[in-house]
Amino acid sequence: MIGRDLLGIEDLPRDDIERILDTAERMREIGGRVVKKVPTLRGRTMVNLFFEASTRTRSSFEIAGKRLSADVVNFSPASSSLKKSESILDTARTLDAMDPDLVVVRHSVAGVPKRIADVLTAPVVNAGDGAHEHPTQALLDLLTVRQEKGRIEGLTVTIVGDILNSRVARSNIYGFRKMGAEVRIAAPPPMVPPHVEALGVKVFTSLRDALSGADVVMALRIQTERLSGACIPSVREYSATFGIDRAKLHYAKDDAIVMHPGPVNRGVELSHELTDDRPSVILDQVRNGVAIRMAVLYLFAGRRSQPSRGGAA
Ligand code: CP
Repeated sequence: MIGRDLLGIEDLPRDDIERILDTAERMREIGGRVVKKVPTLRGRTMVNLFFEASTRTRSSFEIAGKRLSADVVNFSPASSSLKKSESILDTARTLDAMDPDLVVVRHSVAGVPKRIADVLTAPVVNAGDGAHEHPTQALLDLLTVRQEKGRIEGLTVTIVGDILNSRVARSNIYGFRKMGAEVRIAAPPPMVPPHVEALGVKVFTSLRDALSGADVVMALRIQTERLSGACIPSVREYSATFGIDRAKLHYAKDDAIVMHPGPVNRGVELSHELTDDRPSVILDQVRNGVAIRMAVLYLFAGRRSQPSRGGAA
């Protein structure tokens, strides 16, 4: 039995990860049809509660809901009563009183989806909270690697870049470790979180060593919106040392794939060429994002059989 909320990969058992990936494999076929819609969640309502900017996650949750025939509400903070000083928790409680079957939350502060989940009757899915976790991104990354390599167990995955400020790195470290991969991280020392080795990763400051024998190379965006102070001397120096291009990719296995969660700072963490061409699988990641979010909606939103409450607020 899968849990009520999806707040992170840290507490998600391996069996649940496999169940979500297997469900997503079946959902992916719907995206290849002429009529991309099934009645699975007809009559169910999901709310997209995004307090922070997003292109991929928000759009793919919306498309996923519509492909499953759910009614999708996109909450817009800019035109809401947040502008009249209503709190985030009161906003969430208000929407919950309208009996949605699932609420998707993104916020720039770590822990907000959990705070909301604690006061809601509807299940909550974390769509990214600060530098904490981005569970559906890790799930779509796992799905993409499983598709490309036929397995995850035993692979070597090297994550390069701003690990300190990256929720994607954290969720992927948990996910790939749980699924039996070796995870390496490569970054300038100020971008390495303290005690990260405790998560079971190997830390490298030499990109060449980190890429040697890697099956998967995952470049991360420098999170300028979360940088506190000058972590790196200059973007140009960062790019020269840790930016991935074809020459540096030669350190990895011949059949290594290149991933990036997006959006890409082209020419900084990834060359233009590797952003657009194989072995980059960036657009496969985006496509799999819809399938993973369909699977998550199906598994987490399809449960409620009664409205949450009938009494006065
Ligand atoms: N990968 C990711 O979360 O992208 P968005 O910010 O565009 O949703």
